[in-house]
Amino acid sequence: MDQQLYDFGMIGLGVMGRNFLLNVADDGFGALGTDIDEDSVSALNSEGKDMRVKGVGTQKEFVSLLSKPRKIMMLVPAGKIVDNVIEGLLPLLDEGDILIDGGNSHYDDTDRRYAFLKAKGIRFLGTGVSGGAKGARLGPSIMPGGDRSAWEDVKPILETVAAKVNGEPCVTYIGESSSGHYVKMVHNGIEYGLMQLIAEAYDVLKRVGGMGNDEMSALFTKWNDGRLNGYLIEITAAILKFREEGTETHLLDVILDKAKQKGTGKWTSQSAMDHGVPVPTIDAAVTMRAISAFKEYRQDNSKLYKPIHPDEVALKGEGLADAVEKALYFSFITCYAQGMQLLAETSIDREYNLDLEGIARIWRGGCIIRAELLEKIREAYGKREGLKNMMATKEFRDDLFACRDGVAEVIHQATERGIPTMCMSASLQYFDAFRTENLPLNLVQAQRDYFGSHSYERLDQKGIFHTSWDAPREAKVMDPPSGAEG
Ligand code: 6PG
Repeated sequence: MDQQLYDFGMIGLGVMGRNFLLNVADDGFGALGTDIDEDSVSALNSEGKDMRVKGVGTQKEFVSLLSKPRKIMMLVPAGKIVDNVIEGLLPLLDEGDILIDGGNSHYDDTDRRYAFLKAKGIRFLGTGVSGGAKGARLGPSIMPGGDRSAWEDVKPILETVAAKVNGEPCVTYIGESSSGHYVKMVHNGIEYGLMQLIAEAYDVLKRVGGMGNDEMSALFTKWNDGRLNGYLIEITAAILKFREEGTETHLLDVILDKAKQKGTGKWTSQSAMDHGVPVPTIDAAVTMRAISAFKEYRQDNSKLYKPIHPDEVALKGEGLADAVEKALYFSFITCYAQGMQLLAETSIDREYNLDLEGIARIWRGGCIIRAELLEKIREAYGKREGLKNMMATKEFRDDLFACRDGVAEVIHQATERGIPTMCMSASLQYFDAFRTENLPLNLVQAQRDYFGSHSYERLDQKGIFHTSWDAPREAKVMDPPSGAEG
């Protein structure tokens, strides 16, 4: 009887869920799926007809056909649907069964579900899965967090399913509770940053350099053979030259410039703010998606304000392409640096105990932000225990310094023409701010103390001080130290 039971179950047979299951079956495991949508169940049965794959219509049958402890992944839209699936499934499960949420759930929801299911004896893994539909089929990057014993049980399946880089699987146990979903969220925050940076590079090449789509495609293809190599650069090259069958029009030229978002980028910014970790490149990317949504305002304002045509001759051709390449490399480094620092800080604050080298390792393949640069990031974190911001390492210092003139030039050329480069500018500002010993925030502290008696510290004396700024003669030592944060 055990022979007919399936090793791995999937709830949610959209293209991601089906592809993930077919991938599981490729590796010799029995793969079972269910969905409320009959067409999706039929699609799985026909796509997997020559494999140990089966789609069934009811959760009851689904649960009865899985070997114990049951290993069930949900790939359904984040939010209430996940709770509904859990609710429906719970009465059918046995103690020790494993539930994996493979969607982009918010980490607070994952913490709540983890505690709820633990109390019911169900082992829960909040798991980031990256790579889109193609990645799910050929090998995604997988970020499981939660019950460690559950990880040990599903490890053989997830390790064979995951993408491989130099033979190493792009999956590792991330840590306790919601750590897997948190790390996936930060992955997506970095993804937002990289995408917006590439979009700005495209805009500058087009509007400053006058380059056409096919020319830009060739340039991105060339860049993909160099240090910018990565999935997002590769697909941009393909997107730029894509024409719909039978037409000469580039599809990109007729796509509406309003970018949607499901929330993971915004959550990254929100969490970074909560933890006091600066991630301005990611914040700028989220902001640009919000600005893009106000198409009608932008249309009105573009009539209200005349276009800017400077006298200065634009940087063109190879000179511009080189500057943009440097600008992208520089900004990519700062974008990853911000995401990695956020993980380093929240690892402590949220007690995730993250292995940052391991995270960089599993991001090298399968996921959307995979790039050659991640090998260098992995090495940097591998060499230095406790490293928080990779900007502080010699290898990245040299790269950043060598590329700074490129990003400054691109921003200058764009700003002269009124072309927004919010993400590149945020990257440069982040770099310059983080290498400035004395920021002008002494003045901010003075202002806070002036209008709100919020106190300040001094460079020349120890202690907490307050001054009566209207009659300034001497600074008063405050005791007890703060009390003035309100
Ligand atoms: C991935 C992607 C995936 C999804 C994004 C899209 O890693 O495979 O990040 O999770 O495509 O969530 O997010 P937005 O709709 O917010 O752009």
